[in-house]
Amino acid sequence: MKFHYTNSVAVPHVAIKALSGELSSYVSYLRQVTEVGTYEAMESSLCVPNDDYMLDTVERLAERLWTAKLRTVLVIGIGGSNLGTQAIYDAMAGARDLVSHDSPRLIFLDTTDTSRLRAAQTIIDRALSAEEILFIVISKSGTTTETIFNAEVVLAHFAAKFGRKAGRVVVMSEDGSPLLRAAADQQMHTIPLPPRVGGRYSVFTPVGLLPLALLGMPIRELRSGAQAELANSLQPDVTDSAAVMSALAQYYFYTQNLRQHDTFVFSPRLESLGKWYRQLLAESIGKTTVGENSVTVGITPTVSVGSTDLHSVGQLYLGGPHDRLTTFVSIETMIPPLTLPVSRVWPDLLPLLDGKDASLVTRAILSGTQAAYNASRLPYLEVELAGVTLYELGAFMQFKMCEVMMLGHLLRVNPFDQPHVEQYKNVTKRILETGQ
Ligand code: PA5
Repeated sequence: MKFHYTNSVAVPHVAIKALSGELSSYVSYLRQVTEVGTYEAMESSLCVPNDDYMLDTVERLAERLWTAKLRTVLVIGIGGSNLGTQAIYDAMAGARDLVSHDSPRLIFLDTTDTSRLRAAQTIIDRALSAEEILFIVISKSGTTTETIFNAEVVLAHFAAKFGRKAGRVVVMSEDGSPLLRAAADQQMHTIPLPPRVGGRYSVFTPVGLLPLALLGMPIRELRSGAQAELANSLQPDVTDSAAVMSALAQYYFYTQNLRQHDTFVFSPRLESLGKWYRQLLAESIGKTTVGENSVTVGITPTVSVGSTDLHSVGQLYLGGPHDRLTTFVSIETMIPPLTLPVSRVWPDLLPLLDGKDASLVTRAILSGTQAAYNASRLPYLEVELAGVTLYELGAFMQFKMCEVMMLGHLLRVNPFDQPHVEQYKNVTKRILETGQ
């Protein structure tokens, strides 16, 4: 993963100096958290990439659960409990799912959507044996309405067809949560989630690792990418850290009233990755500070997909108000290449495309877009992934998690809680209980 910031509308050197100075003690504290590795600090998610015990647990369970008959893994969870896994799955296997294939696939159930639940029931109806399906229920709190409702619907449907088969269900939740206890009582597989690792920081825990391992994905590569990026993000020379520079640029432009951050991914495969980051940034940074003179803080994250969305929001971005910072995320090489055939259907139309490869066309569009951003003096950062690999995805996600912690530090908000989400969750429960 490469990160560039120097070719954007520059953050002044004096601001870089002041802000990197402000971040350097926090970065050395984060380094300490990873060295201690005991899940006591709020930043404990940084201990996960080096947690060998956790990796072993996942690998052993995946080995026990996998059978050649496995066709569908239903991942039931919402927000931080599924967005990271979905991001990796869509990047690695989303295009594969457009055509028929032999490997198992993941189906995500997050909101209480009737048609999606019916589709899940149809998958169960069509299964020839219970071994074709595995359920992974994920809720850190163990009390999220959507997750419990969806799990009840599909598990009841499954039991009606195959009988209660506890061995086909894995439940992940906070140690001691009522959900984890109930699942253990029923002899389901249970995995206690590490303390102080919030949903949106949990992709390298069993939350992300187990579903991916069940598909045969080499999850150690994901972890290696995260480890490498952890070392980069937390290096003592903070101005060489991608996470520091990205946090610093976002903070600087926020103070200049640019309060939107668009993640402009130049491949549809990365759209869910952009959405994973959207949640991470929004839920971590969008806060009201406490105390008498409380202020609201927040950066509105958006996701755009290149080049599709240039034909949708490109005009607004280039010609409308200058109120956003952009991070372009692109892929250096796509393997195997896809070149236009020599014998073309319409050779006289756009002859400049002769012999061109699809990624070269995309790259030309990206360069054209960046030139237009430069001409309009629109600030942007760039992330280049060497390819769509678990290693690169792990590096990107770790970079972003570190960046958001650092941004929270600069903005003086707690990036680990979500008090206003809890508000809606609690009122929903009251409405369901009392009808109002
Ligand atoms: O990132 C977070 O902490 C949240 O998005 C939660 O993951 C989400 O609200 C679901 O909560 P839970 O995992 O407790 O079901």
